[in-house]
Amino acid sequence: MNKRTIRIWDLPVRVFHWALVALMIGVFTTGLIGGNLIFWHGRLGVAIAGLLAFRLAWGIVGSTYARFAHFVPGPGSVLAYLRGQWTGIGHNPLGALSVLGLLAVLLFQVGSGLVANDDIAFEGPLYAAVSKNTSDWLTGLHRQNTWIIGGLVALHVLAILFYAHVKKDNLVKPMITGTKEVYDPAAKPAQGGGLVSFILALAVAGVTIWVVTGGLLSAPPPPPPAQSVPAW
Ligand code: HEM
Ligand code: HEM
Repeated sequence: MNKRTIRIWDLPVRVFHWALVALMIGVFTTGLIGGNLIFWHGRLGVAIAGLLAFRLAWGIVGSTYARFAHFVPGPGSVLAYLRGQWTGIGHNPLGALSVLGLLAVLLFQVGSGLVANDDIAFEGPLYAAVSKNTSDWLTGLHRQNTWIIGGLVALHVLAILFYAHVKKDNLVKPMITGTKEVYDPAAKPAQGGGLVSFILALAVAGVTIWVVTGGLLSAPPPPPPAQSVPAW
């Protein structure tokens, strides 16, 4: 069978992935150390919100294998995959479920973080949109969800190691170079996801960052006028 090299992951997907990994290391470290680093934690978390918004938009307007319509699996394809009957390019059906799971827990983490407070000096930029009780509740969930994220990331990395060592399929290389060697003559290189799509997804990310940093919240009331100094 003829081996060919085709493009499967476009550049935005790859930059999204490795930027997410870098930012995740940053938010975990700053979140766990706490103290004054919590301010950096908030900033890095907002950057993750922007990345996630970009990826959601890119899942609609991006290139072939980046699209949700391409990889969100039905029960049939998961069963076929488990029976070893799935042949395809891009995220396999089980991998796709883990990708969706990761995106969902990350969205929850960012959402809860935005209204969280550390009971000392830091409040998420949307803290004013909820009551103190709701903020405390979501802060608790934010802390607990950390461990779910840790578990899913560990599973994600273990699955990739399993693919590399047991199935002899290196998934990391395509996530770096964008290309994969395929044998299936019907496999098509990724298409679409051009400049217009990129600008659109970037705009979605920009608007998201504006909203999550409080763009829609009414401005706090102006400080009371300075008292005039008594002339004695
Ligand atoms: C905080 C850590 C990580 C998170 C949150 C994360 C998240 C994700 C997400 C959301 C995707 C889907 C990509 C997309 O369609 O846009 C993905 C795919 C992928 N990730 Fe990660 N990742 C992490 C760490 C890693 C590490 C350390 C590696 C390398 C060992 C890795 C290798 C990959 C590969 C190879 C894929 C593509 C899988 C496939 O071919 O279906 N990830 N990751
Ligand atoms: C994916 C993104 C995020 C991850 C993985 C994450 C992770 C964490 C972790 C590990 C902690 C420490 C938990 C503990 O000490 O038990 C934490 C705490 C915290 N995070 Fe995040 N975070 C994220 C996003 C955000 C965002 C966007 C904000 C706000 C802008 C935020 C605000 C906070 C606050 C206020 C705390 C302190 C909670 C407390 O003291 O009880 N986080 N986060």
